[in-house]
Amino acid sequence: MGWLRYLARIPTNKSIGMTRVFDEDMSAGFGTRAIHAGQRPEPLAGAIMTPVYLTSTYVQEGLGQNKGYEYARGKNPTREAFERNIAALENGRHGFAFSSGMGCLDSIMKLFRAGDHVVCGENVYGGTFRLFDKLLQHMGFSFSYVDTRDPQRVADAMTPATRLLLVETPSNPLMRVTDIAAMAEIAHRNNATLVVDNTFASPYFQRPLELGADIVYHSTTKYLNGHSDMIGGCAAVRDDDLAARLQFIHNAAGAVAGPFDAWLALRGTKTLHLRMRQHDANGREIAKWLVEQVGHENVMYIGLPTHPQHELVKRQMSGFGGMISVELGTKERAAYVLGRVRIFALAESLGGVESLISQPAGMTHASVPPERRAAMGLSDGLVRLSGGVEDVGDLLADLEQAFEGIPGSGKRSAPKTRERDTIGSGAP
Ligand SMILES: Cc1ncc(COP(=O)(O)O)c(C=O)c1O
Repeated sequence: MGWLRYLARIPTNKSIGMTRVFDEDMSAGFGTRAIHAGQRPEPLAGAIMTPVYLTSTYVQEGLGQNKGYEYARGKNPTREAFERNIAALENGRHGFAFSSGMGCLDSIMKLFRAGDHVVCGENVYGGTFRLFDKLLQHMGFSFSYVDTRDPQRVADAMTPATRLLLVETPSNPLMRVTDIAAMAEIAHRNNATLVVDNTFASPYFQRPLELGADIVYHSTTKYLNGHSDMIGGCAAVRDDDLAARLQFIHNAAGAVAGPFDAWLALRGTKTLHLRMRQHDANGREIAKWLVEQVGHENVMYIGLPTHPQHELVKRQMSGFGGMISVELGTKERAAYVLGRVRIFALAESLGGVESLISQPAGMTHASVPPERRAAMGLSDGLVRLSGGVEDVGDLLADLEQAFEGIPGSGKRSAPKTRERDTIGSGAP
């Protein structure tokens, strides 16, 4: 690809061999891919589940003679099965499993060099901002943070030195949506790579590679694994040359997923389609209930027709999921609810089968300076809910008792302190 010419700076390593999807997996539907893609019965006993290959190295038959596996940082059969699986789910060709979402992004950043400029969405996970602001900025990268809801602002931020456009959509925690196809057009017109963090949507609801993104990545920790029992990251790409460079980095920098974590994630993706449908059903009900309490202008849920970008959501996604943020106006009101929930657990993270609740300003986004948080509308009164797959009646009853007697309000009276959305079609 023309715009990826600068990648020639990164070597490739042909001896390891690329993790590539099995072509025959790609004709199956999403649920079938989720359960089977990348996996074949194990040849020794026919075990239907991919074994956990707990090994650091592989015995070689002679010098230069091996079964395609030399050392487990480079390749591990359990990890490969997960990598093929996630590549198939994202409708890509090559997958890479990392030790965490941040390890994945850090490795992606090694495609670039000191002097390169990055255009990044202003509302991204706090750890993404921290990696850029506290580490990579001091290694010669420069960053512009832009409201990527507006393609014109993104186009205006591109410079001749821009090599990367990074967006997270829907965004954490403000549930803002970016037009991925428009971003691909802007990035490629400017010889830059488009990288999309697809953690909030999961490939069940959104597949950025189909919309023109070059790299899609995830915190596997979240919906893909879905059971809150591991930390991991993964990326998928279509372009063989880009994959070869990423593979070199994967092995050379070494932030690879361990075999047991890869196995847990692989077990998780088998139910991704089922879980996402339930997250979506519960998310809609919870959002509806929250709207009744605090008004739609204080509920950030992409499934609400009043979400300012609901039309774009319907165009590029096939569902809405379980992530909801709600503006309660003050930290005290947020703390009141967070202190009273019983089923929702007060915790960082999201995307597990269990419901979680958090205050992003003091938790996931504490590393974003307060002025920056205020400028983008992320207040101390914002509460983020990750709706799980429990019985929704129990979740609503839990919220009902947690909101009861919330200071300073009757129903529908949460203070409206959030900076209002400035673009979008029609929401008041
Ligand atoms: C949207 C998003 N991207 C990336 C990450 C980082 O992933 P990890 O915690 O697996 O390193 C997170 C973590 O919360 C996230 O929410």
